[in-house]
Amino acid sequence: MEPINIPSFANRINVPSELSEEDFNYHHQGCHDKIPNITDFEIISTIGSGSFGEVFIVKEKSTQSIYALKKILYNLSSDPELIKKRAKRERDAMIICSNKNSKRAPKLYYAFLDQDDTSFNLVMEYISGGDFNSYCYKRMCDNNPFQLEEIKFYMAELVVCIENFHNLGFLHRDVKPENLMIDKDGHLVLCDFGSSKQIVSSSPPSIGSGSSSGPNGFSGLAATINNNTPPNFTSFLRNPNCSYTSYIGTPQYMAVEVVQGIVYSKLCDYWSLGAILYELVAGQALFVESPDTTEQKIRENIGNWRGLLNTAISKSQQPISKVAESLIRDLIAPERKRIDSGAIKKHPFFEGVDWQKISDRIETPPYTPAPSNPTDKSSFSIGGQ
Ligand SMILES: Nc1ncnc2c1ncn2[C@@H]1O[C@H](COP(=O)(O)OP(=O)(O)O)[C@@H](O)[C@H]1O
Ligand SMILES: [Mg+2]
Repeated sequence: MEPINIPSFANRINVPSELSEEDFNYHHQGCHDKIPNITDFEIISTIGSGSFGEVFIVKEKSTQSIYALKKILYNLSSDPELIKKRAKRERDAMIICSNKNSKRAPKLYYAFLDQDDTSFNLVMEYISGGDFNSYCYKRMCDNNPFQLEEIKFYMAELVVCIENFHNLGFLHRDVKPENLMIDKDGHLVLCDFGSSKQIVSSSPPSIGSGSSSGPNGFSGLAATINNNTPPNFTSFLRNPNCSYTSYIGTPQYMAVEVVQGIVYSKLCDYWSLGAILYELVAGQALFVESPDTTEQKIRENIGNWRGLLNTAISKSQQPISKVAESLIRDLIAPERKRIDSGAIKKHPFFEGVDWQKISDRIETPPYTPAPSNPTDKSSFSIGGQ
């Protein structure tokens, strides 16, 4: 018998399968009950455009409130199913972070499907200080390299951002300077949860030495992720003339076990911390020789990380202190030897850091963004990812 062709919502607007408005739409407690649509917002300016869409500064017409709106277009992609998964993952992780009042993730206020331009929209807290990559790039252009105390501060803040996200039950899998924002007070906030993955607790603990349980009862390193849902990255050049971080969706901060698609754990995010630390102290990127280095070559380099790390440390543009080298080697290391947040916090590199103050966001940041007018995008580079 011929199937009866019911003109479903999904067919009408070509929504990827198994995702309806009910699955995606969301409003945070205290916001309007009514799910907004794009016409409820005035677009003020574009902050960044990434591989899957754009981020705008918007004003909610009814309240005049300013938000960041991330628009993820799925119909332009050759793989709408992938975009659907990323959008849903991002939304789900943001909801949990918002409900737990995380200060290290942008709060999500609304999520809605836009039927007209076939997009997923995330309306979130606008983090006004710009992304960390743009800040680093500006410092480099100003010939004003980071001082050790600044590096310690930002790396300590990043440890807390990652730990916080893990404790809420997620791996990030795409920790990199472009996905770190500086808030209005100068503290770091982790964003872009499109590659994140909910942690599935495994028992007995299988990898690593174990770290403290988070509020959700996830038992640290015992939580492992299988390789069947690797994060997806793209490789568009962002700024070919820029010798700093030049790739959108770059795999250059990805842990070797993620690149190789084997079972991995929370520790993959701490490899990324090590790659960022190297970049800050050395003044050059790890595993990327030049802006022309292809994604494939970066992956190969990560696979050959042992030899390349030795060369990178010995040939660094800027001298690397022994204590920084030691931490880098503890992080850019095989997973079974890599240290987790407990040991990272005790590492001599962080001597003098008051972790409680970092956690409570009361350590004074070395840089506070100028009070921002939402129409001023000077802290952002167009095309930030
Ligand atoms: N909540 C926010 N507030 C301000 N800017 C943001 C916010 N979220 C993202 N951005 C900016 O937009 C850029 C792209 O956002 P991101 O979530 O990383 O998208 P993509 O998935 O395309 O990488 C970021 O690098 C950052 O510069
Ligand atoms: Mg991003």
